[in-house]
Amino acid sequence: MLSYRHGFHAGNHADVLKHTALVALLRILARKDKPLLVVDTHAGAGMYSLEQGFAVRNAEFRGGIGALWERSDLPEPVADYLDQVRAVNPDGVLRQYPGSPRIALGVLRPQDRLRLFELHSTEGAILARQFAQEGRRVTVTAGDGFAGLKAVLPPPSRRGLVLIDPSYELATDYRAVVTALRDGIERFATGTYVVWYPLLQRRESVELPEKLRRAVDADWLDIALQVKAPSPDGLGLHGSGLFIVNPPWKYSEQMRGTLPWLARALAQDGAAGFRIDAHET
Ligand SMILES: C[S@@+](CC[C@H](N)C(=O)[O-])C[C@H]1O[C@@H](n2cnc3c(N)ncnc32)[C@H](O)[C@@H]1O
Repeated sequence: MLSYRHGFHAGNHADVLKHTALVALLRILARKDKPLLVVDTHAGAGMYSLEQGFAVRNAEFRGGIGALWERSDLPEPVADYLDQVRAVNPDGVLRQYPGSPRIALGVLRPQDRLRLFELHSTEGAILARQFAQEGRRVTVTAGDGFAGLKAVLPPPSRRGLVLIDPSYELATDYRAVVTALRDGIERFATGTYVVWYPLLQRRESVELPEKLRRAVDADWLDIALQVKAPSPDGLGLHGSGLFIVNPPWKYSEQMRGTLPWLARALAQDGAAGFRIDAHET
């Protein structure tokens, strides 16, 4: 039984990193005419209220999108991401936060397709309702995204991006992301893959980036944003990272230009910072 609800965390520093990176990736991939398949294996509910319900409980969004909303000095990839958030807040007040499916669809073109998986029945139902009018462009599957990924790869156009964004609520997720990434690449070696991971003090989390690196025989980019010092009690998220396989040309340059700014803008204490490692052949 899953208890994680992304609504508690929607728009926090981790979403800012993930969604900024996602928009920038899709922009580059969408430069070629060929249709693109985007698979979101852990799609969430797709849209989150920041005025009521889960998000107001800890108001995590205030340290994320809330800290950027009024700024006018955004680097281009962050401004591009903010435009996606502004699109669902037309009166200029930050009331709602779009999840990765809505953000991806905001960048995709008519010829592209979005495949969404969500295991939580309530979140899945909200998601399905939201995209019901999109016709063939968007397919929502209520089920396990790790298992579903195999069936949708490779895309007929051989162009695609896979976002693997589990909550790591289950300890088995740490192993499952590595396996899913390996299986995905086996079926679709030229795809771009994005694995989100938390910066936590638990052993599985600390070891995950190295395990991801060892699992792939391809170019990768590993970026992480730490917003504060790890807490003395060992609990809580102090940042997050993205392991990106087959990043498109020039993408790492964009992230190198963006991460220092994000680390400053989202810093919660003096331990904030960023890391960028790359393997390019
Ligand atoms: C971190 S949230 C997703 C956030 C979303 N990708 C975004 O950026 O807006 C993770 C989601 O995965 C769902 N989930 C957990 N295990 C899953 C599985 N095996 N397959 C599909 N969805 C799963 C959870 O219910 C939760 O909604």
